[in-house]
Amino acid sequence: MNWDDTAPPTAEDAALGAPDRLVGADADGEDTAVEAALRPKDLEEFVGQERVREQLDLVLRAARARGATADHVLLSGAPGLGKTTLSMIIAAEMGAPIRITSGPAIQHAGDLAAILSSLQEGEVLFLDEIHRMSRPAEEMLYMAMEDFRVDVIVGKGPGATAIPLELPPFTLVGATTRAGLLPPPLRDRFGFTGHMEFYAPAELQRVIHRSAGLLDVEIEAEGAAEIAGRSRGTPRIANRLLRRVRDYAQVKADGVITREIASQALDVYEVDGRGLDRLDRGVLTALLKLFGGGPVGLSTLAVAVGEERETVEEVAEPFLVREGLLARTPRGRIATPAAWAHLGMAPPQQAGGSGQQGLFGA
Ligand SMILES: Nc1ncnc2c1ncn2[C@@H]1O[C@H](COP(=O)(O)OP(=O)(O)O)[C@@H](O)[C@H]1O
Ligand SMILES: [Mg+2]
Repeated sequence: MNWDDTAPPTAEDAALGAPDRLVGADADGEDTAVEAALRPKDLEEFVGQERVREQLDLVLRAARARGATADHVLLSGAPGLGKTTLSMIIAAEMGAPIRITSGPAIQHAGDLAAILSSLQEGEVLFLDEIHRMSRPAEEMLYMAMEDFRVDVIVGKGPGATAIPLELPPFTLVGATTRAGLLPPPLRDRFGFTGHMEFYAPAELQRVIHRSAGLLDVEIEAEGAAEIAGRSRGTPRIANRLLRRVRDYAQVKADGVITREIASQALDVYEVDGRGLDRLDRGVLTALLKLFGGGPVGLSTLAVAVGEERETVEEVAEPFLVREGLLARTPRGRIATPAAWAHLGMAPPQQAGGSGQQGLFGA
């Protein structure tokens, strides 16, 4: 395996990765170290994602039966849902080695040519964040995917020549958090696209049980349910919360994770019953208490919570919107009735009524 992720961080990294949050979906240093041990090794062990799993199972079985290399696979979905894990499972199921790289690590077409030309027959090439690959590399990839061939350019200027190079058949597994950003010619060259969905609480509960077993942590079903409910539909977050709850259970109790211990621990870490953390609650609270539920402009809201605009917009809001707690409208951000209920506050009366609306009326 070869981690080749040397590209400098981009603005996207900065905005999305900024604060190290317990409920952030991107991997932090500790996750990277632990995740290898927690990754399911085959499709059977992979929890949930029934549709993708079933379809992928067919694709791989058919390829195996033909004694052929599997079609190229594109996996799209939010961070932490299991794309990297699935790519490794694909290689394992095909009994093939895997090479791991990422779009940002491929700055020049030459970088890609070097990787492609060193692939073994049947090898799986995992290209994470494929939407962030450079244009020239992308064009080289089209030909490699379709014809298993690349043109290596030798020399510069008018004397440059293209030397065609045959590649052994390989399987490209591309992963992206933004399928919409992929140019259609690239998307079309994948034989199979799997859309990963957020996990249901019962599925996360199974993920947590499985991880607890591997980490040698004793956990009751209700304890796992409590953690699952706060994990934002994301296995990576579930595994991270499990580790923090384990710490708490060891220090404050006898190490066994019950519902009560899980709930106390996550209260200490400020992850609430719905998986909102301090930042999320800060944004919602300001929206309700200071602006009567909105509408209020993003910049004003950001100043009110003492955060950057980008932090509110890209770190806090996506989950609040997904949970139906906040809506973005042309007139500004507004809180939904569910937001009032979640923070245990009464919404203002409809227009003309009394209550908080009065404070902000004319
Ligand atoms: N379906 C699943 N079943 C069990 N564990 C999972 C599943 N999906 C993800 N995980 C766990 O969540 C963590 C993050 O998964 P990963 O594949 O790195 O996500 P992604 O590449 O989509 O960001 C890994 O430790 C993995 O073990
Ligand atoms: Mg990944």
